[in-house]
Amino acid sequence: MRYPTVFQPCRIGSLTLKNRLAMSQMTMNYATEEGLVTDKLIAYYTERAKGGVGLIFVEGTYFTPEGKGYVRQIGLASQKHVEGLKRLTDSVHGLKNDTRIFLQIHHAGGRASAKVTGLQPVAPSAVPPYPGAEMPRELTREEVSGLVEAHVEAAARAREAGFDGVDIHCAHGYLVPSFLSPLTNRRADEYGGDLTGRTRFLLEIIRGIRKRLGPDFPLTIKISGDEYIEGGLGIRDMIDIARLAEEAGIDGLIVSAGTVGGKKLEDLSEPHKVMRTLPMMTKPGCLVPIAAEFKKSLRIPVITLGRINEIALAEEILKEGKADIVAIGRPLLADPELPKKAAEGREAEIRPCIACNEGCYKRILQQLDVRCSVNPLLGKEGDSAVRRASPAKRILFVGAGPAGMEAACRARERGHDVTLIEKNAAAGGQLLLASVPPGRREIEHFTNYLRGCLKRSGVKVILNEEVSPSVIRRLQPDAVIIATGAQPCVLAVQGLQAAQGVTSWDVLSGKPMAGGPYLIVGAGLVGCETADLLSDRGEKVTLVEILPEIACDADKDTKAYFDIRFQNKGVKVYTGANLVRMEDRLAIIRNGDEEIRIETGTVVFSVGAKPEDSLYDQLISMGIEVIKAGDCVKPRSILDSVEEGFLAGNRV
Ligand SMILES: Cc1cc2nc3c(=O)[nH]c(=O)nc-3n(C[C@H](O)[C@H](O)[C@H](O)COP(=O)(O)O)c2cc1C
Ligand code: SF4
Repeated sequence: MRYPTVFQPCRIGSLTLKNRLAMSQMTMNYATEEGLVTDKLIAYYTERAKGGVGLIFVEGTYFTPEGKGYVRQIGLASQKHVEGLKRLTDSVHGLKNDTRIFLQIHHAGGRASAKVTGLQPVAPSAVPPYPGAEMPRELTREEVSGLVEAHVEAAARAREAGFDGVDIHCAHGYLVPSFLSPLTNRRADEYGGDLTGRTRFLLEIIRGIRKRLGPDFPLTIKISGDEYIEGGLGIRDMIDIARLAEEAGIDGLIVSAGTVGGKKLEDLSEPHKVMRTLPMMTKPGCLVPIAAEFKKSLRIPVITLGRINEIALAEEILKEGKADIVAIGRPLLADPELPKKAAEGREAEIRPCIACNEGCYKRILQQLDVRCSVNPLLGKEGDSAVRRASPAKRILFVGAGPAGMEAACRARERGHDVTLIEKNAAAGGQLLLASVPPGRREIEHFTNYLRGCLKRSGVKVILNEEVSPSVIRRLQPDAVIIATGAQPCVLAVQGLQAAQGVTSWDVLSGKPMAGGPYLIVGAGLVGCETADLLSDRGEKVTLVEILPEIACDADKDTKAYFDIRFQNKGVKVYTGANLVRMEDRLAIIRNGDEEIRIETGTVVFSVGAKPEDSLYDQLISMGIEVIKAGDCVKPRSILDSVEEGFLAGNRV
């Protein structure tokens, strides 16, 4: 058997799990604004249950109005929420494949927002959880007791709704962990002070649930094993807390790490201490050593998580006894069938999560529904059946970037006769360039996956060929989908010689150029990545950005990541500045009132892209049915390209 340790049964309290793989809690924003379960949610979870995990942790669910963290979060605040949740558990249990399903109960505490709840957030003390957050109101002694009871009520409702167990969210700075931490708990009553006082709230909740639901109802908690914040809770404190929780009656412990308002990125060897939803520059399984420390001190099962994106890695972790169960989050958004495919030796068929956070984490922070860059079917599971094409046609796809590959595969799956033409020597398009900068290799997995799909599906791929009217006449397609991508923009600069000016795309594709020193015009994400690549090669690099900051299109951690890397490698950065002219090998930069002269061998433009759709009008004039997809409509993210390609393949 493949992965014998992973696919071995195990126990959480009184419950037997069919294997040691769990799906971790992920808020999807798929419920109604009243917190009611939707068909979309049921289809989403049922698909994951079919995919082979032994245990599903349903996402954080609010149970009091002020504790709601997300606009379309699932609710468990009253009896009206129970019916929908029961439909969800019935759907999963109805599969009769022994998948177990727990519900996470969640109070957002000081991390809630009046913008969502209309109420002032509440917390153990009036301390904002991070700089700039709304000021929470300190809970009264009576309100604290009331919230203990509200947790117990919520757990009882979860059992009534058919859940096999309950998980309490005690990680990442929400209400319960804000009681645990001395940074956010400054109370003078019995719920504050030393560790005993600060742990009281959690332990009363655990004991209350035990008392109400009996000794056998499975109960887990999710903690930050180390908060990685100055003055917060370190691993030894958290182990002490976990021991107390074990004594109070929990059956399992999920170990995450980090909290809000935590460390600023300072040390690039440990980005996981800062970036809670681990991005692609962090190492797969980087939180496992923390879980392993807890395992040494506890008798209950310890569940590890964090970028465990391959079952081979899960097998290694479990075999070495570093944890008892592995929880997987984002990789199951990317491919719900990950466990099943791995068990059957079909690893090449797994859609790989590239840890980009674009469709999931970043969207949830903006209160949007979760999507996935690599999986256009996420959130559309109820409507995912392949609709056979009638009549089947001969379809030509032009451009083998993510949109073209996705579209071609879907159209072929539907029964069309599909040819895909690419002018370059390899399929991949923008994905090939996106995976070149340091820390971006993960994207290659998705390129390889899509190439594999083309091969398996029987799409005829023609490389190194430009599409022209004569090619169209030769292939005689009934319809053409053009996914010809975009072209990088360049700026007209006085005095710039033709050989001196290139684009970021030229650099990333390895085109020969005039040599350094390099001046990069435009320090958005692509400009920063290009500077990172060139400086890694030992080149002298200067970045010029007209906006007041670099990486304005990235999150603050990514920006900090570049700031540190550029500082370490001596990359010079001018913001609020622009290139005004070249005087031979001297670039003249205007920086406020000042003019700076910088020796420059090559000017690299990184100033955006424009659609490349010149083929469209030609084909329309030939009377052919043409659909545009991906960046040739408008240059955007991988997420939009993949989704649009999929829709085009579905529509044709
Ligand atoms: C979109 C999204 C929503 C999340 N929501 C929750 C949540 O409701 N409760 C929770 O405990 N963790 C939540 N997490 C954290 C995940 O459970 C998990 O700890 C994290 O994604 C790391 O695992 P992974 O690398 O396998 O994705 C969320 C993560 C993501 C990406
Ligand atoms: S959006 Fe990116 S990080 Fe999120 S699940 Fe999809 S591939 Fe993974």
